Amino acid sequence: MDSLRVEQSWFVADMIRVTTDMWQKGWDERNGGNVSLRLTKDDVAPYLKTWNKTRILKLTEPVEGLDGECFLVTGTGAYFRNVEREPEQNLGIIRVLPRGEAVEILWGFGKDGGPTSELPAHLKSHSASQARAGAPKRVVMHCHATNLVSLSYVLELTSANITRALWEGSTECLVVFPDGIGTLEWMVPGTDSIGDATAALLAHHPLALWPFHGVFAAGTTLNEAFGLIDTVEKSSELLVKIISMGGPHQTISTQNLIDLARHFGVTPMPSALAQNGWRVAPHPTEKPRKEAALFGAGVR
Ligand code: 13P
Ligand code: ZN
Repeated sequence: MDSLRVEQSWFVADMIRVTTDMWQKGWDERNGGNVSLRLTKDDVAPYLKTWNKTRILKLTEPVEGLDGECFLVTGTGAYFRNVEREPEQNLGIIRVLPRGEAVEILWGFGKDGGPTSELPAHLKSHSASQARAGAPKRVVMHCHATNLVSLSYVLELTSANITRALWEGSTECLVVFPDGIGTLEWMVPGTDSIGDATAALLAHHPLALWPFHGVFAAGTTLNEAFGLIDTVEKSSELLVKIISMGGPHQTISTQNLIDLARHFGVTPMPSALAQNGWRVAPHPTEKPRKEAALFGAGVR
């Protein structure tokens, strides 16, 4: 009988598919992006006895509430375009050890590779999700979505403003992410601080923008997390074109958003609904201004 191989599991197959799709979308140049999927006891049980050579990796800060939890994670430095060809080099499975101070590498990451450098943001987000009521979000996904990152150079960087712009960029957005996208200030990636800030945003929003860098999404499945980023990126592409054409001449109104929310039974993020339009940040060469005109508000 052939020995059991984790490469044939549903979760490695799904991770290969999603990372390949992300590469093809152009969201993950070089080693850009990282994904983690929480595995259940049933997922890992058949393979545990086949993993006998484990390595221990100390975490920079202990993580709470994840003792014994296993995650399938992309490797640091891993190119998403290579995941399909060499899953065992580019992916790995980790288990959080007691007290959350270290993880054990059960499988993968090649001979001496390790999990993504953004592990703090992933584990802290999983930890926060685990502590909340309801089904935990099993997936945390990060990538360098081109159009959303472009917008972060131009739009005023508040959670309400970015959310409102994205909702107006495409009709489906308010229904797909009524809780909006949270926005950080620029921070050094790979640190515990950006991890804490990201987990705090993902407690209130399914998405978090890292300006001039990328986006994080939390989803119950790989499909859901991918779909969130895909939807945001579609709206961002439309907004990049709209702004490049000189800005909107007409748009989705506040009343339209209220009607959408009522029809689809969702509650929109209050500050984004209250904003009544969205604005670009002042250009550095522009004279100081009291308040920039809202795009949207002035065109209806
Ligand atoms: P890793 O290769 O360590 O996952 O880093 C990629 C990245 O996007 C950092 O933000
Ligand atoms: Zn990144």
